[in-house]
Amino acid sequence: MASVPSLAATVHQRVADALSAALPEAGAADPLLRRSDRADFQANGMLALAKKLKSNPRELAAKVVEGLPAGELIAGVEVSGPGFLNITIADSAITNTLAARAADDRLGVPYAPDPGTTVIDYSQPNVAKEMHVGHLRSTVIGDAIVKILEHRGETVIRRHHIGDWGTQFGMLIQYLIEHPAELDHASDSAGGAEGEGEAAMARLNRLYKASRAVFDSDEEFKARARDRVVALQSGDAETLALWHKIVDESKIYFQGVYEKLDVEIRDADIVGESAYNDDLMNVVKELEESGVAVRSDGALCVFFDDVKGPDGNPTPLIVQKSNGGFGYAATDLAAIRDRVGKLGADTLLYVVDARQALHFRMVFETARRAGWLPEDTARQLPFGTVLGKDGKPFKTREGETVRLVDLLDEAIDRASAVVREKAQDLTEEEIAERGAQVGIGAVKYADLSTSLTRDYVFDLDRMVSLNGDTSVYLQYAYARIQSILRKADGKRPVPHPELPLAPAERALGLHLDDFAEILASVAETYEPHKLAAYLYQLASLYTTFYDQCPVLKAEVPADVAENRLFLCELTGRTLRQGMALLGIRTPERL
Ligand code: ARG
Repeated sequence: MASVPSLAATVHQRVADALSAALPEAGAADPLLRRSDRADFQANGMLALAKKLKSNPRELAAKVVEGLPAGELIAGVEVSGPGFLNITIADSAITNTLAARAADDRLGVPYAPDPGTTVIDYSQPNVAKEMHVGHLRSTVIGDAIVKILEHRGETVIRRHHIGDWGTQFGMLIQYLIEHPAELDHASDSAGGAEGEGEAAMARLNRLYKASRAVFDSDEEFKARARDRVVALQSGDAETLALWHKIVDESKIYFQGVYEKLDVEIRDADIVGESAYNDDLMNVVKELEESGVAVRSDGALCVFFDDVKGPDGNPTPLIVQKSNGGFGYAATDLAAIRDRVGKLGADTLLYVVDARQALHFRMVFETARRAGWLPEDTARQLPFGTVLGKDGKPFKTREGETVRLVDLLDEAIDRASAVVREKAQDLTEEEIAERGAQVGIGAVKYADLSTSLTRDYVFDLDRMVSLNGDTSVYLQYAYARIQSILRKADGKRPVPHPELPLAPAERALGLHLDDFAEILASVAETYEPHKLAAYLYQLASLYTTFYDQCPVLKAEVPADVAENRLFLCELTGRTLRQGMALLGIRTPERL
């Protein structure tokens, strides 16, 4: 395993060195190197620098050119305009760098220089409730970020902070006590994790509806349900056993959805709100003793100068309600103590809907004041809303929230139709498998290719389109590459650095070389959409290359053909790795 410095990084360093040699008083100056249409790279840094030091930018640029070492890296450099440098890389340098990437299992991508421990809170559905479209983004984004960070060598601890605690359990458990057979019905499961999950959810829904009906109509039942909450919180054994039963039933359901969504959620990482129950009194005590929180009308509150309601009065974070009950804030505070104090996190991430931004701002600030959370450690990765075609939050025609499974099933159906239409030699079973991979990939890609904070319209027509910025386009590009490699008898193609490169080969090659830098920036900024954009551009550059540079035609000289096959293979591996980091499959045949 050897990390390969990118050409951009190497050129940047060379120009920076030449620049500080030409202008020692500027110190370590940034040459501002970027990719350019004029040449391979353009450096603009001389302009501002010359201006600052009152010298002539063209003269400075000319000195930098003189100072650049001659060698195999740079084929040409010229001063242009008011003092830019246009730099052209030697073809052989491009091929050699790509050869080094291809020789490495990680495609030359380095590990982070100083990896730490990140605790990431994502995919947090609620027990006894359906997963809906709102849980899609948290799950898909969280899964991608976990993969991207782990690939960099970060230690990642996943936390699924499921809603498994609260007053509603009093009602459900009390009903179960009075109707012990309610969850025991013979399973009407269609088999498989998904069928079992759906059957579990059906039972939970029935329990929920039945208990709700009694709760709303029978005052005495309501009182018994309230007492049951107290029994639950004080750890009564019978109550806890039934609570576990409900939680377990929900987990069966969640796993069915996760399987369909093709994400791995491990049981040990599901640490719900209930897990922090025993620490809530300590949280309250410490906050109250330190004066971070104060009693106000009986409730324990934290106030902020800059958080006010519409009436101009401060809106506090309520840690404990006046009736002694705890809400979401107390649990999140206890979780921070656990994650920083016990799990040793140096970064806390929360993949949660943007509408909860104020909650997290107040929770983080409270934890900081209490001394539980070092500065700049916690960060919400807020995401926007999934919209319907009418531009409003996505609802069914009846105005209800959309069940996540229904939406996924529809995507799979639509994708299967696309796969079937294009299928040449696929069996029914293969069509079903590919349909799922394409459909789920389409949903994930549409989500991840949008920057996190933006809302987006859930439009399956667009998502499963073969053209345009879709995963289907990327998956077909990958499958086409594999088909070419199969035709070329499967030997690993050897690069030929001595050959000149066509413009489309250079463009593809330079983009391939950028992979490591993109991954580093995506991991540092938590912006998966940049990886999606990179992969889309990669597939587009590949398409142009494939149109302009025949690979398997008889008239192409053998060494040229092999060099092109080499580019095909490296493109395929880069696409597969990049897609895998987004949680998207790349079938070998489509
Ligand atoms: N369970 C909540 C929901 O479904 C999201 C929980 C977010 N995570 C957290 N640590 N508060 O909306």
